[in-house]
Amino acid sequence: QPIRRADYRPPDWLVPELALDFELGAGETRVTGSLSAVRSGAHDRPLRLDRDGIVPDSVRIDGVEADWSQLDDAIEVTLPGDAHSIEIAVTLHPDRNTQLMGLYASGGLLCTQCEAQGFRRILPFPDRPDVLTRYRVRMTADSTRYPVLLANGDPVGSGDAGDGRHWAEWDDPFPKPSYLFALVAGDLVANTGSFTTMSGREVQLGIWVRESDLAKTDHALSALKTAMAWDEKVYGREYDLDVFNIVAVDDFNFGAMENKGLNIFNSRYILADPDTATDYDYDAVAAVVAHEYFHNWSGNRVTCRDWFQLSLKEGFTVFRDQQFSADQGSPAVKRIEDVRGLRAAQFPEDAGPLAHPVRPDEYLEISNFYTATIYNKGAEVIRMMHTMLGEAAFRAGSDLYFDRHDGTAATVEDFACAMEDASGADLTQFRLWYSQAGTPRVSAQLSHAPGDGRARIALRQLVPPTPGQPDKAPMLLPLRIKLFGSETGKPLGEERLVLLGDTSADIAFDGVAETPVLSINRGFSAPVILDTNRTAADLAFLSAHDDDPFARYEAMQQLMLDTLVTAVTHGRADHDAVIAAVARTLASPDLDKAFVGEAVLLPSESFIGDQLSVVDPDAVFRAREALRRDLATRLGEQWRDAYDGAAANRFEYTPAAKGLRRLRNVALGYLAASGAPDAADLAFAQFEGADNMTDRHGALATLVNGTSDKRIAALDIFYNRYRDNPLVLDKWFSVQALSARDDAVDQVEELAKHRDFTLANPNRARALVGMFSVNQRAFHHPSGRGYRFVADQLLALDKLNPQTAAKLVPPLGRWKRFDDDRAAMMRGELERIVASAGLSKDMLEQAGKSLD
Ligand code: ARG
Ligand code: ZN
Repeated sequence: QPIRRADYRPPDWLVPELALDFELGAGETRVTGSLSAVRSGAHDRPLRLDRDGIVPDSVRIDGVEADWSQLDDAIEVTLPGDAHSIEIAVTLHPDRNTQLMGLYASGGLLCTQCEAQGFRRILPFPDRPDVLTRYRVRMTADSTRYPVLLANGDPVGSGDAGDGRHWAEWDDPFPKPSYLFALVAGDLVANTGSFTTMSGREVQLGIWVRESDLAKTDHALSALKTAMAWDEKVYGREYDLDVFNIVAVDDFNFGAMENKGLNIFNSRYILADPDTATDYDYDAVAAVVAHEYFHNWSGNRVTCRDWFQLSLKEGFTVFRDQQFSADQGSPAVKRIEDVRGLRAAQFPEDAGPLAHPVRPDEYLEISNFYTATIYNKGAEVIRMMHTMLGEAAFRAGSDLYFDRHDGTAATVEDFACAMEDASGADLTQFRLWYSQAGTPRVSAQLSHAPGDGRARIALRQLVPPTPGQPDKAPMLLPLRIKLFGSETGKPLGEERLVLLGDTSADIAFDGVAETPVLSINRGFSAPVILDTNRTAADLAFLSAHDDDPFARYEAMQQLMLDTLVTAVTHGRADHDAVIAAVARTLASPDLDKAFVGEAVLLPSESFIGDQLSVVDPDAVFRAREALRRDLATRLGEQWRDAYDGAAANRFEYTPAAKGLRRLRNVALGYLAASGAPDAADLAFAQFEGADNMTDRHGALATLVNGTSDKRIAALDIFYNRYRDNPLVLDKWFSVQALSARDDAVDQVEELAKHRDFTLANPNRARALVGMFSVNQRAFHHPSGRGYRFVADQLLALDKLNPQTAAKLVPPLGRWKRFDDDRAAMMRGELERIVASAGLSKDMLEQAGKSLD
C-alpha cells in the first residue's frame, strides 16, 4: 500500500488556527489542541486527523463532547457545517518514546521532532505539509526541572502557575505545516547574541545548551551570524521574527531540524571547542547551522506541497549551504569534499536496489527517503541550473520563486518554472533529472591528428536502468571542458560549457596546434560517471598543469583509481606514474596545503570497489595497501618534510591552519605506512602533545590501524580523558570500527558489549554499527561475521528506533556487487531481518527492497 505522488489531492479541510496547551512532564504530558477546521471545496467527507500511537482522551466539537471513529492511523470526525472548532485532549509519555519522533525526553530535557510525520504522535491532526496553520502554544511545567520553556515564533507571556510550576506562551505569526512545530523544556542556558537585519530589525539569538556545554557554543553562534549576513547578501533573504533560538540535544535521529524560529540540533552539530572537536566537526557545525537557518526561506516561508517534493527544500538548501561553506574557506577543497561524499553515498544508492528519482513516485515510509539522492543529488541538480543559467539569472529565478510562492506549499515544478520564467531558459529536458534515477555514464573520446588544427571529442551518454525504470531518455548534461597543450602545458583556448542533450555528440575545437589533453567535467559540473581515453601520462599531466584545482584533484584520483583497478584485476600494477604525480604535488610550494592533503589521499576501498564488476574486498584492500606502502617508502623523505613543514603552532581555526593540520595528519599516516621505525613514537608524541582534537584524533587513528604497543595505551588514555563526553566517546568507538587491522571484527563485537555502548542513542549506534558497515574489508569478512553482527544490531535497534535502524540497511543491500558466497550470506541476513516478527514499516521497506 505505497503512497503515490500521482494520487495527490488537496486537503479536504484546512486548519487556519491551532492553540496548543501542554502540561509537561517526562512521565506524563497532557496536551489539549484547539483547532479551527474549515471545509475546503464542496464535498461531504469527514475531517480526517492523522494519528500514530495515540488515542484521544476526548474530542469536543464546538464545545460539545463528540464521537469519532478510530482507524489504524487516523481518527475521523463527521462535521455538519463548513467551519467548526475542535478540541482534542491527549496524554503522552515522553520518557517511553524511544523512537525520538514526536515529544520525547533526552538527558533531562523534553523536546520534539516532527518532520516528517512526528506531529501525529503529539496530536491527531491533518499532518501533511500543505495544511498551513497559525500556532499559539502554552506550556506549563515544573519550574526547577524545566526552567526554560521554548516554542516557535515569539514569546508573548510567562508567569507563575503555582505548586512550583510556571507557564510560558509563544505565538508564531507565520502559518506553517505541522512538521515545523517544536517545543523544548529544560534546564538550559543560552549563549546569546543579536543580529541586525538589512532592513534594520534587531533579532535576539540564543544557542541553548546545558550549563556545562556553554563554553562550546561560540563557534555555532558566530556561524549563525555569518550565515544570516550571507543569506542577505547572496540571496536577498532576511530573517522575519524577533528571536531565533537553537537548542542542542544529545538524542537525535538526524543532524538537525529547521523548526520555525526554534531549530533543534543534534549536539554534535553545535558543540565545538579545540579540545573536543576536529576541524571536520567545526566545518560541519558551521555548515549545519547555516543549512537549518537557510531553511527559514527555502523550506519554511516556501514549504513543500507533499513529501514527494522533499528535494525542493533539501536539494536547494544543501546547495545553498555548500555555496556558503565554499565562501568561508577554500572553494576547491569544499567541492572535493562534497563530490567525495556524493560518490561515497549517492552513487552506490543510485546503482543499487534503493535507487529512486530526486522526486520519487512512491514510498511506503517517507522517513526512508531522507536520502543522499534527495539531499545531495538534489543539490547537484540545483547546481547544474546555476551553472547553465549563470549567477545573475539564477538569482533572478530564486527571487521570483520566493516572491511567487511565499507563504505557500510549492512543488519542484514551481521551482523549475520560476527559473525558466526569470531566465528565458527552457528546462524541459533538464527536468528528467527529477524523474529519472541512476547515475548517467558519459564517455568522452578525444582525437587529434598531428598537424591538424582541430581536435574532436566524441561524447556519448547512457542512463542506466534502475528498479522500475528500465528505459531512460538522454539527459541534459552541462559539461565544462577545456583543452591543454601537452608540450607547453598551457590552455588551448577558453573553457567551454557544452550541453550534451543527445545520446551522442561530436564537439570540435579549432586552433589546436599541439597534442591536446582533455580536461572535462571541470568542477564536477554534472554528477556523472566519466569514461575517457586519457592515458596515465595525460592524467599525470593534468594533475600538475590543470588550472582548475578540482580538475587537478580529479585527474590524480583517476590516475590512482586506474592503477588500483589494474592491480586488483591483474594482481599487479605499475605504481610509478602515481608516485611521480604525488611527488610533484608534494613538491609544489604554491599549492594550498589543504588541497595537497586531499590530492595525495588514495581513493577509499569502497570507491575502488565501485569500479569493479565483482568486488573482492580483500584484493581491494591488498592493492590499496601495496600502493600506500610504496608511496610511503619511496617518498619517505617528502612525507617527513611535509610532516615537519606543517608543524603545529597554537591552535587556530583558520583555513591556513586547518590546511596544515590536514597535510600533517595525512603525512603521518604515510610515515606509519612506510614502516619508519620512529613512526609510532611520532604518532604517540603527537597524540600526547596535541592542543586540539584534529591532531589527537589523527594520531589515534594512525595508531589504531597499526600494530604498535602504543595502540592500547592511546585508546586507554583517550577513553579515560573523555569518558564523560559522549560526542568524543563516539569518536573512540568509530575510530575502532573503522580499523584496518585483521582483528577489526573481533574488536567491534567486543565494543558492542562495552558498558558505554547503547543503541538508545543514535549517535552511539551510528558510531559503532554505522561506521563498521562502511569499513569495507571488515564488514565483508569472509566468515560472514560482519553481516551477522550488523543484522543483529539492526534487529535490536528496530525495536527501539525504526528510523535510525532502517538508515543502516543499505550496506547489506549491496549484495549484488559481491562474489556469490558473500552475496548469499548478505541476502541471508536480509531474509532473516524481513522474516522477523514485529518488524517496523521502515525496516520492512528498506530490507524488503534490498532483497529484490
Ligand atoms: N529537515 C531536516 C534537515 O535536513 C532533517 C529532517 C530529517 N527528518 C527525517 N525524517 N529523516 O535539515
Ligand atoms: Zn535540510
